[in-house]
Amino acid sequence: TIPVILDVDTGVDDALAILFAVAHPDIEVLGISCVAGNASLERVVENTLRILDVAGAPDIPVAAGARRPLISPARSASHVHGEGGLGTVHLPPGERTPAPVNAVELMRRLITESPRPVTVVALAPQTNLALLLRQYPDLAENIERIVFMGGSASVGNATAVAEFNVWHDPEAAAIVLDAGIPTFMYGLDVFNQVSVDRDLATALETGDSGYGRVVGALLANRVARSENSAAEYTGLIGDAGALCALVDPDALTTRLLPVRVELTGYGRGQTIVDQRRRVGEDILHGTAGAWEVVEVALDVDAPRFARLFL
Ligand code: BDR
Ligand code: CA
Repeated sequence: TIPVILDVDTGVDDALAILFAVAHPDIEVLGISCVAGNASLERVVENTLRILDVAGAPDIPVAAGARRPLISPARSASHVHGEGGLGTVHLPPGERTPAPVNAVELMRRLITESPRPVTVVALAPQTNLALLLRQYPDLAENIERIVFMGGSASVGNATAVAEFNVWHDPEAAAIVLDAGIPTFMYGLDVFNQVSVDRDLATALETGDSGYGRVVGALLANRVARSENSAAEYTGLIGDAGALCALVDPDALTTRLLPVRVELTGYGRGQTIVDQRRRVGEDILHGTAGAWEVVEVALDVDAPRFARLFL
């Protein structure tokens, strides 16, 4: 199994990712750290605890972390995920409470105590992770890899060029890229491709399994809106794809590429991915600190990930 810490801002598709991670036999979820992003920190924590109840995983520790980005002001994403963060899905409150420590301390403890190097899967703005790596840089030794949903090698969603998670806290993303840990970027280029057909989602939503009904209802919330049209079903599995990438990497086309996070001007929050050449000394030499080598997912066998998710 792959020992994993999830960093989330649950969030409809973070919820799908948590359900997938708990259910998959190759993934061992050591703990979940929460950060403000798709919803306020309080909602993110509550949503995460409730989803773990649905997943039948009451023992996975959950901790609250940063309630706002390092430098940017706090912003709401309720236009995408609803006020509560889970769209129109309402889960009953459970008995559970979060761990009595900050998310950074929970991550530190889990990484320190793990007998095997831990994979950190960041599905949210990377504020918690940046604080962790700044405060405890030596932890990098027991981190196998950072897999993050975020960024784009093409267009953005929060702005024309920036993806939401990186745009929400660009300084945090830049700090994490700079930490010297092998990094995998599951960006919009692949994120926007993997979806579940509407009839399958409906079958889940109206089926007998309680787990399936929640998955179906969450998928039904995966809609795209534009100013002039009604909400249209997309069925995107979103963040869950970053976990599919852990267990079925061969479904992806990836390249090792120089990446940097833009911090100023309109491009703030953009991940600039230099696809002109292969990574070589020529391209990186003299630009240390600005460009980092990242394994970037550029394409995906989308039906294969959708089947894996289901
Ligand atoms: C990312 O932002 C959130 O809306 C999703 O949960 C995902 O992590 C996509 O830009
Ligand atoms: Ca997310």
